[in-house]
Amino acid sequence: MTVNSWEAKLKEFKEYVKRITHYNEAIGLMYWDLRTGAPKKGMAQRSEVIGTLSGEVFKMTTSEQMEEYIQYLSQPEVEEKLDDISRTMIKECRKEYERSKKIPQEKYQEYIILTSNSENAWEEAKEQSNFDLFRPYLEKVIAFNQEFSEIWGYEGNRYNALLEYYEPGMTVEKLDVIFSQLKDNIVPLLKEIMDSPNRPETGFLQQPFDIEKQKKMIRLVLESIGFDFSGGRIDQSVHPFCTSLNYGDVRVTTKFYENDLTMGLFSSIHEGGHALYEQSISRDLVGTLLGTGTSMGIHESQSRFWENVVGRSLPFWKFFYPNLVQLFPTPFNEVNVEEFYRAINEVKPSMIRIEADELTYNLHIIMRYELEKALLNNEIQVKDLPVLWNDKMREYLGIVPENDSEGVLQDVHWSAGLIGYFPSYTLGNIYAAQFLQTMKKELENYEDLIASGQFNPLKIWLTQNIYRHGKMLTPSEILLQATGEEADASCFINYLNEKFRGIYQI
Ligand code: CO
Repeated sequence: MTVNSWEAKLKEFKEYVKRITHYNEAIGLMYWDLRTGAPKKGMAQRSEVIGTLSGEVFKMTTSEQMEEYIQYLSQPEVEEKLDDISRTMIKECRKEYERSKKIPQEKYQEYIILTSNSENAWEEAKEQSNFDLFRPYLEKVIAFNQEFSEIWGYEGNRYNALLEYYEPGMTVEKLDVIFSQLKDNIVPLLKEIMDSPNRPETGFLQQPFDIEKQKKMIRLVLESIGFDFSGGRIDQSVHPFCTSLNYGDVRVTTKFYENDLTMGLFSSIHEGGHALYEQSISRDLVGTLLGTGTSMGIHESQSRFWENVVGRSLPFWKFFYPNLVQLFPTPFNEVNVEEFYRAINEVKPSMIRIEADELTYNLHIIMRYELEKALLNNEIQVKDLPVLWNDKMREYLGIVPENDSEGVLQDVHWSAGLIGYFPSYTLGNIYAAQFLQTMKKELENYEDLIASGQFNPLKIWLTQNIYRHGKMLTPSEILLQATGEEADASCFINYLNEKFRGIYQI
């Protein structure tokens, strides 16, 4: 091996990876366009184009060429010469390669078709509130995921094979401890809250709010917390989302409700949190496949940090309330900022996960985790899901859905084959509370900063500790480096107790 040959090979590899990121950017832009107003007539054709490009990406990540790069650059005498970024790129490519390559091509195709049909069946089942229409599809989706888990391999629980994909390093063994600790604290706290006579008045939040003014408020808030409009934009879509084409082009969408100010506002801050992360990733990671958030859980920790920890806090509204009053004198002239703060933090068990408050949301996630883990391990059967679902709702939230449409059929995830994804949402809340604890120690005047609209020190802290690293660090490395701790529910439990005991005076 000559001195130059490994360098030439590395250069070639990087060009190859860059080409993959370019395809991904094109696919991302097409998805964004589909969901933000592409003409209906062109949609079927567009989906086909996305399919073709995705197929190319799949081929490139599983090609013999890729295998050759990985093998060559992983030789000890080559690897020791590589810089950190190249080494992590190879690790990432190897992971994707092995994961995809292990599944036979025909099996993969079969699964893609199944999930596509399954989503359609789910939509109809949900509309008719008829679980039996969806049941055979879900049975197959579970069977496929069981088979995939065996092919990919795992230690301990079979569910670990799926968890590893969304939250590398997280396991059932850890999650069982974290989630049961959380559940054991939230369920009794919820009961105390429901028994409290000091309930916030929320009626004033339901009335017409001019959409143009809502847009103004959202723009002001996002700009203030550090969303860079020269490197991003906001549009409207049916379901709010954030997509990052590259660090300089990060797009969020929002949905407005004429009679509800808070839905559009807080979902925009949520997506804005995802966007701040993507916009602040190190420039060195462009075109490497590492220039994106490190995991679902860490990503969600950022959207939830900005939406809930900051966005639903009293100091935040002490700063923004005058703007809100100015835009909407009715009703806010008649309401003070403390009353507003209490109203936007109302705890109210609901059937629907995406409508849940900051506290009960986690119970929705924990029950989904328990159910999908049990399904994967054959401890329960798909046919029994509706009954088991309702039992858990009764036990954790004290309410029972009247039909499967607002029960077991409410989420798209299982129909799309997303098994192992739900825990990320609550892990996000848990991480966010851990980051908050450290941030408060390191930024002594944390609350004053927020109350005076100085969000930049927060963004700098998050960029230093989380954002800039992209995928260079694993979720647990980020958490450990930033906070000195592993994932642990205690911070979040303390945070919830402090916040909601204050609001409900218990
Ligand atoms: Co999110």
